Amino acid sequence: MLITLKEIFKYAGDNVAIGAFNIHNLEFIKGVVQAAEETQRPAIMMINEAVLKYGGIEILGGAAIAAAKKASVDMAVMVDHGEDIDFLKKCIDFGLDIMFDGSHLPFEENIKLTKMMADYAHSHNRSIEGEIGQLGLSEDGDEETEQKITSVEEAVTFASKTDIDVLAISVGNVHGFYKGEAKINVPRIKEISSALEKMPIVMHGGSDIPSEIMRASIQAGIKKFNIATDLKHAYALTMYDLMHQDTMPIQPLQLFPVVADAVAAVAAEKIKIFSSEV
Ligand code: 13P
Repeated sequence: MLITLKEIFKYAGDNVAIGAFNIHNLEFIKGVVQAAEETQRPAIMMINEAVLKYGGIEILGGAAIAAAKKASVDMAVMVDHGEDIDFLKKCIDFGLDIMFDGSHLPFEENIKLTKMMADYAHSHNRSIEGEIGQLGLSEDGDEETEQKITSVEEAVTFASKTDIDVLAISVGNVHGFYKGEAKINVPRIKEISSALEKMPIVMHGGSDIPSEIMRASIQAGIKKFNIATDLKHAYALTMYDLMHQDTMPIQPLQLFPVVADAVAAVAAEKIKIFSSEV
């Protein structure tokens, strides 16, 4: 069933976070839904703003919403890293929850725009995630930016002034593969989650983090874990193997279900970790 981003946190708990997975096409949608149904856990499908502009709000966004509605478990569908106000308003009008990413903006500007988007989202019964602090690498992993660890003070001020439902923080997490081992500031997660009490906090850049660090982050208070790269990697590797067989398969149905299964396997493995099942 389709529920909102805000509602899905009724399934989170002291040692339980919700898995949020970036989807790019039908195989990712099918894979993530399959993983949620197999594990009988809720999950969030996220569509990056640029991917949604390519795939179309009604086409790709509509497919994800339709799949969530048909799923046997509760699912939310949201835009990830949205920056384009007019586009995001259209997404909300269509029925998508959003993340407004103003983390690169000056603090006060981020507050102002995030609050404006929160008012718009809430007046349409949709939820919103905001972000404060800055991650080390961009979503594509090719652009180095200065990392800014979120302070407790900033997180509290931002959460109270913007009226958001969920807050993404920067605690050493980066998008894409980590250079060396992930160095996550677990004590800072604990400080922020204690200070914010009820507001769920989010770890972006959830791929390529050892499971012990994922578990420690969840115990410290992370309630939503974002995963993109690990699924894209599984998808690409599986497609590569299929394409490099002696006879290259050209029938879509020889390819699509296989890559969807590869996406599902990785998503299910993560969901089990997030649910403290393994
Ligand atoms: P990864 O690609 O590192 O998993 O990050 C995903 C993410 O944070 C999407 O918002």
